[in-house]
Amino acid sequence: MTRAAITGLGTARGHKVVTNHDLAQTLDTSDEWIVERTGIHERRVGGSCLELGGQAAKIALKQAEIDATELDLIICSTCTPDQVFPAVSNRIQNELGASCGAFDLNAACSGFTYGVSLAQSQITAGMERVLVIGVDTLSRFTDWDDRSTAILFGDGAGAVVLEPAIRDDRGVLSTYMGSEGRFADLLICDFGDYIKMDGKEVFRQAVRVMVSASQRVLADAGLEASDVAAVIPHQANFRIIESAMKRLDIPLEKAATVLETTGNTSSASIPLAMDEAVSKGAINDGDVVLLVGFGAGMSVAAALLRWGQ
Ligand code: COA
Repeated sequence: MTRAAITGLGTARGHKVVTNHDLAQTLDTSDEWIVERTGIHERRVGGSCLELGGQAAKIALKQAEIDATELDLIICSTCTPDQVFPAVSNRIQNELGASCGAFDLNAACSGFTYGVSLAQSQITAGMERVLVIGVDTLSRFTDWDDRSTAILFGDGAGAVVLEPAIRDDRGVLSTYMGSEGRFADLLICDFGDYIKMDGKEVFRQAVRVMVSASQRVLADAGLEASDVAAVIPHQANFRIIESAMKRLDIPLEKAATVLETTGNTSSASIPLAMDEAVSKGAINDGDVVLLVGFGAGMSVAAALLRWGQ
């Protein structure tokens, strides 16, 4: 089977830094409370999905050393598109000068990993170059007067180019896409409204689904938790990551994080954390890397890959 390997990675962050201290000016909260309960110190706010997603995509293409005209498909994961339609991916396609098919997918914060899974299946089916973008601008749907949600979210983008792996054992080993619609009301944003959330219950279910999705992709690839060199989890809350890592019996040091400076950027959070881990030298050729996302829906997705081409 042809496996998809990541050959280019790019990211972009919202324009303006908003620190916990900034939020404490207008909300009944404190830097101490936010850091202790979430791990977040600051987040970035501002920019459209087209702008941030386009920026990340250009960097990913450059790193992969391919021209946009060579792309076979663009998948853009977002739950906060700039317009109802056209899709953000159509606008990014035009911005890049690509001529391939393009569509958006909405699986909330699991969307980037859903995109990687779809890219893998398209590459197995014969495509050669797929661009997966994760971009969200949750700040537009955040009630900045609501301390239970305003502390969590930020804007950002990440993109990867996937191509057939050159070596047989590199690339995507297994993927899982899940949905537990009975929990759909735990985290919602209606048209014209702001994000509403049952934080405690989201926390509880998030840990559970992250663990089960991770165990599933490990079992499908015939690997154990001890084989994993790095975990790139959705960046919602450091305590969620901590609980999931404990239950998976994977040392916390193996978890990549970026939420300290980005907050929860939904579709962008996994590629942003991946970029951070790669630049720190925490992911190397041949490493088994686990991506695991969860979010509104309740959606969940995991992908296991062996790093390198
Ligand atoms: N600053 C200060 N106090 C706050 C606060 C804030 N920003 N937000 C809530 N509080 C208060 C509450 O009112 C409550 O006060 P009370 O005990 O007097 O009633 C107290 O702090 C504890 O609130 P609680 O909601 O129980 O805190 P928590 O430990 O569950 O943390 C979240 C709240 C939102 C940080 C946490 O539940 C969470 O991160 N959940 C997951 C959310 C998420 O990740 N969503 C996106 C998924 S993709």
